[in-house]
Amino acid sequence: MQLQSFVYDGVWFDGPYSKESVLATKNFQGLSDDIYVSTFPRSGTTWVQNILIGMLYGLDVLENNENFEMNKLTAYLEITLGEITGCDLANQMVRRPRLLKSHQPTNLAPQEIFSLKRKNVVVFRSPKDALLSFHEFYHKNTFIRDFASPTLGEFLDRSLAGQVLNGSWWLWAKPWLDFCRANPDTNLMIHYEDLKEDFAKEIRRLESFLNLSPMTSETIDRLQALTSVESMRERLDTEKNYKGMGVVNKGEANRWKTEFPPEYVEKFDALTRETFGDDDIVAKFI
Ligand code: A3P
Repeated sequence: MQLQSFVYDGVWFDGPYSKESVLATKNFQGLSDDIYVSTFPRSGTTWVQNILIGMLYGLDVLENNENFEMNKLTAYLEITLGEITGCDLANQMVRRPRLLKSHQPTNLAPQEIFSLKRKNVVVFRSPKDALLSFHEFYHKNTFIRDFASPTLGEFLDRSLAGQVLNGSWWLWAKPWLDFCRANPDTNLMIHYEDLKEDFAKEIRRLESFLNLSPMTSETIDRLQALTSVESMRERLDTEKNYKGMGVVNKGEANRWKTEFPPEYVEKFDALTRETFGDDDIVAKFI
């Protein structure tokens, strides 16, 4: 397992990743009914993965915490777990359709998403909240880095320079946004903040995107309860690869408003405006 930071095709990596697993992810060849979940880290990936597990495989899978194993239900393609890579885990998955997760920017994401137009759910979150959350994750998970515990300011500077795991949020978000908009039949954009605000509405969007029969509103309520912050924390606390990592943290939107140093609000918003210009999407990200 490679624990030293490295840069691959312009993208920064810290933690349990290797150039081999990054390349394997890029070249991954899946099945025609696979469903990808593409996100920048700390954007609500695990939440959406749990929601999709419930929608595709049944709520009883979420009710059975004892046998719940994330990588068997939704493989994380580019991770290296000892000798095994996420792509190997994907190839061992038995349920169909498979749910495959990747945090890669478009240049390193499985290229078949683009060439074969795989179904792809892309989760976006305000970069200020995602990077605030990522800073806490770096502190909690010392395995992820080979540099000293960064202060929030140091970490946000690194984020602006693209020197955190998976590189620059802005270089991740802009190409994904453009691709999603150009290919709406095979790509669905979900915003973390929208899911927080109106869970049922986003579930209806997912149902229609995935051609699933509509759930009753009672079932949606049950899904919401099973994927609440509290339920997910409990579930992942007993999951062998997730326990103790703090993947489920506070689960709030707009925490940056009270926790982000004002000078970084300015720096983040300036880069967001520079990246997206006068696009309406800017309002979601600042
Ligand atoms: P915070 O650290 O801001 O609380 P990812 O899964 O992409 O790593 O995202 C992690 C972020 O999603 C964390 O954000 C985490 O708390 C939040 N999250 C996880 N489960 C959630 C849920 N059920 N509802 C809302 N937010 C959730």
